[in-house]
Amino acid sequence: MSLVVEGLSKQYAKRIQALKQVTFQVNEGECIGIVGESGSGKSTLARILLGLDTYKEGKIRFNDRAIAPRKRSDLRQYRKSVQMVFQDATSTLNPKLPIWKSLLEPLDNFKEVTPSFFSEGSLSRKEMAEELLELVGLDKEMVDRYPDELSGGQKQRVSIARAISIEPSLLVCDEPTASLDVTVQVQILRLLKELQQKSNMTILFISHDIRAVSFLCERLIVLKSGSIVDQFQLSDIYHEERHPYTKALIQAAAI
Ligand SMILES: Nc1ncnc2c1ncn2[C@@H]1O[C@H](COP(=O)(O)OP(=O)(O)OP(=O)(O)O)[C@@H](O)[C@H]1O
Ligand SMILES: [Mg+2]
Repeated sequence: MSLVVEGLSKQYAKRIQALKQVTFQVNEGECIGIVGESGSGKSTLARILLGLDTYKEGKIRFNDRAIAPRKRSDLRQYRKSVQMVFQDATSTLNPKLPIWKSLLEPLDNFKEVTPSFFSEGSLSRKEMAEELLELVGLDKEMVDRYPDELSGGQKQRVSIARAISIEPSLLVCDEPTASLDVTVQVQILRLLKELQQKSNMTILFISHDIRAVSFLCERLIVLKSGSIVDQFQLSDIYHEERHPYTKALIQAAAI
């Protein structure tokens, strides 16, 4: 897996420049964090990376192939490799579907994928959903429940299980813990860490919370008003060379 973003800019309306010349690279097996305040362009970047939004300026290459906006056939292949976990699990789970049906959506879309983590090849669909739940530390009894019968943290685990079900090589998480209370946030971060260590999955973790990012990620990118102002290894977080904005984030978070 390799993802290269080069000179990516995004303009919405005439004067809203959400991203300015964003350049970075993500390597196989890495857990990379993008941190920045509200409005800094984090979700715009995530949506563009997922092919959910277009861009006119810049280049995105995934495994040395260009991700061209609006090219459907390429996009399907890409979606198989790149999955996303959103901030609000409630809006990503269909309230009318039992959990097991929502969980199996990606596997239904990509029937050619046989995940390596299933205990055997001949599982029924419901058994697959049960194994996915267990993978993220949820009770398999939950397969028959509906989203509104789950807590926020449980729903977020379901979203994570769904995203990793097709074993994406890259998982993009956009503020996956922002709507959860602190103890559940920590549980979700631990889960992501554990899943990453087990599967060598690459994670791009987006958050306004430098504390969460530095818990999970070994490399950090700091975004401010659409521009990357700092990029460093976690071990260099307290280095004096850090950008004043990074220092301010660290100070505000008291880490
Ligand atoms: N669909 C849109 N149309 C116009 N402007 C938009 C649109 N989406 C986002 N923006 C603007 O682009 C900028 C970046 O927004 P974005 O949602 O990427 O920020 P963010 O870093 O994800 O913020 P938050 O932490 O609040 O989620 C903001 O100024 C926002 O108002
Ligand atoms: Mg956002």
